[in-house]
Amino acid sequence: MEYLTVPESGSSQEQIARAAQVVRDGGLVAFPTETVYGLGCNAFDERAVRRVFAAKRRPLDNPLIVHVSRDRPMLELTDGWSRQVVDDLARAFWPGPLTIVVPGGDEFAPSVRGGRSTVAIRCPDHPIALALLDAAGVPIAAPSANSFGYISPTSAVHVAEDLGDLCDLILDAGRTRLGLESTVIEVQERKLTVLRHGAVPLERLRGSVAASVSVGDGALNAPGPRRSPGLHRRHYSPRVESVAVAPGLDLSQLPPEGSPLDETIRYVGYDDRPCMVPAAWSRLSLGSILDLEIVAHDLYENLRRYDPSDQRGLLMLELSGEPGLGRAIDDRLTRAASGTILTSEDEVRLFVAQLNPNRRDP
Ligand code: TXA
Ligand code: MG
Repeated sequence: MEYLTVPESGSSQEQIARAAQVVRDGGLVAFPTETVYGLGCNAFDERAVRRVFAAKRRPLDNPLIVHVSRDRPMLELTDGWSRQVVDDLARAFWPGPLTIVVPGGDEFAPSVRGGRSTVAIRCPDHPIALALLDAAGVPIAAPSANSFGYISPTSAVHVAEDLGDLCDLILDAGRTRLGLESTVIEVQERKLTVLRHGAVPLERLRGSVAASVSVGDGALNAPGPRRSPGLHRRHYSPRVESVAVAPGLDLSQLPPEGSPLDETIRYVGYDDRPCMVPAAWSRLSLGSILDLEIVAHDLYENLRRYDPSDQRGLLMLELSGEPGLGRAIDDRLTRAASGTILTSEDEVRLFVAQLNPNRRDP
């Protein structure tokens, strides 16, 4: 594996040219975007795309995002309504953290679409990603550069730790600016549907297009069929057992279990919210609830830090309960917890009691 450090701005032409060569030769390049690092390859090269799936151990029915440069190829949308909406969205948010799913895309390597008749496209807002796209001269298919189901990488070091020798080259441009993945929106049958909450909040989407924007089942964390195949319940997950809890619960009255387990419970809340938990639990923070951009920026870094190396105990992740970026943050926290949300003091009590290996039934 080659590891090249690139300054975000300034002269990195040589490194970019080298990475572009690796892409054209069918290799895998981990590169920074404004959201998270991607594991990229030539979107026209089926063999390379298959290698990306294999490196991540990602199921083949979970399609990849095709990253395009600023002068994006005209998407061949036949219907005028879709063309107008996609144009409006692209003008408002590209380059940037919005992925647009549209019908078509059969010019790309077949596995890119994961067996669907739609393709996901985004133009990333990062000088290195854009320079790489221009130098490679081909669109780059790239999922987040983490093994399937694990926490997404917000620095090149995360990529090296997780996928190390499975990449041919890593471009290290430091930490990513936003820290949360792009919002995924589908344009189909005269409907706009958010398939994944992300760095562009729903409210901003709604403010920028005339058409109405609905939220898909998958992004609601509700039971039922998932529109976006990537929206598995367990995703973005620490290795230790994790559970999400509703904001504002008073857990300080939980009866002391007196079990060694209490010492391995880590409650992850926010700096400026009261944290009402038993004294034996550790208290950790995702940052200030008043600054969700910073919470988002640091979210994956924090989840990695809070994932104990011995994988013992429990992480309790308090949801923000906020609109805007809070939706994406709560979505990732809920998935990190495999979809389990505890919504009352009693639910927490029962959950903790179940975990206690020496529990006495009441
Ligand atoms: O910010 C991001 O989006 C990052 C950076 C690297 O661009 N990429 C990323 O890729 O998060 P990935 O593969 O981890 O997530 C892509 C999401 C998945 O949920 C996938 O199922 C969905 O987009 N997706 C891709 N193509 C789709 C399609 N044709 N229809 C529906 N969902 C699609
Ligand atoms: Mg991912």
